[in-house]
Amino acid sequence: MTRPEPLDKEVLFDGRSLISETDTQGIIIFVNRKFVEMSGYTKDEALGQPHNILRHPDMPKTAFEQMWKTIQSGKIWEGYVKNLRKDGKFYWVIVNIVPKLDDNGTITGYIASRKVPKREQIQAVEQSYAKMVSAETKIIH
Ligand SMILES: Cc1cc2nc3c(=O)[nH]c(=O)nc-3n(C[C@H](O)[C@H](O)[C@H](O)COP(=O)(O)O)c2cc1C
Repeated sequence: MTRPEPLDKEVLFDGRSLISETDTQGIIIFVNRKFVEMSGYTKDEALGQPHNILRHPDMPKTAFEQMWKTIQSGKIWEGYVKNLRKDGKFYWVIVNIVPKLDDNGTITGYIASRKVPKREQIQAVEQSYAKMVSAETKIIH
C-alpha cells in the first residue's frame, strides 16, 4: 500500500467509540465503523494490514518502542498519538491498548480504543514529539 502524502490539515475526533484489534504482531484483525470513518480505509483495506498504516511521520519511533515494550509485558499502554489518514489529513487521539490474554495468561493480541485528547495538552506533546523525532533523525544520519 502506498503511503499517503501528509497534509497539514486536521480532522477532529468526536469521541465516539473508535476500536481496532490486532494479533500479537500488530496486524489488524478488527476495526469498527468509527475507525473506517476516521482513517479513511475501508474494512477490507484495513484488515490484514500492519497497524502502522496509520503512522504519521511526526510520531517518534521511541514512543512506539515504549508502547510495544509495555503491551508485550502484559500491561496497558495509553498515550497521545497523531495518526495519518488515507487522505493525508491527520487526527490526534489518546490511544489505550489492552493486551488480550488466554486462559494460560498468554498474550493472544491487543485491543485499542481511543479517547479525545485535551487540546492544550496536544501542543505540549507536539513539542516533545518534535524534539524526539529530531534527535532520532540525528542518530540515523
Ligand atoms: C492494538 C494496536 C493499535 C495500534 N494503533 C496505532 C495507531 O492508531 N497509530 C499508529 O501509528 N500506530 C498504532 N499502533 C502501533 C503500530 O503497530 C506501529 O508499531 C507504529 O505505527 C510504528 O510503526 P513501526 O513499528 O513500523 O515503526 C498500534 C498497535 C497496536 C498493537
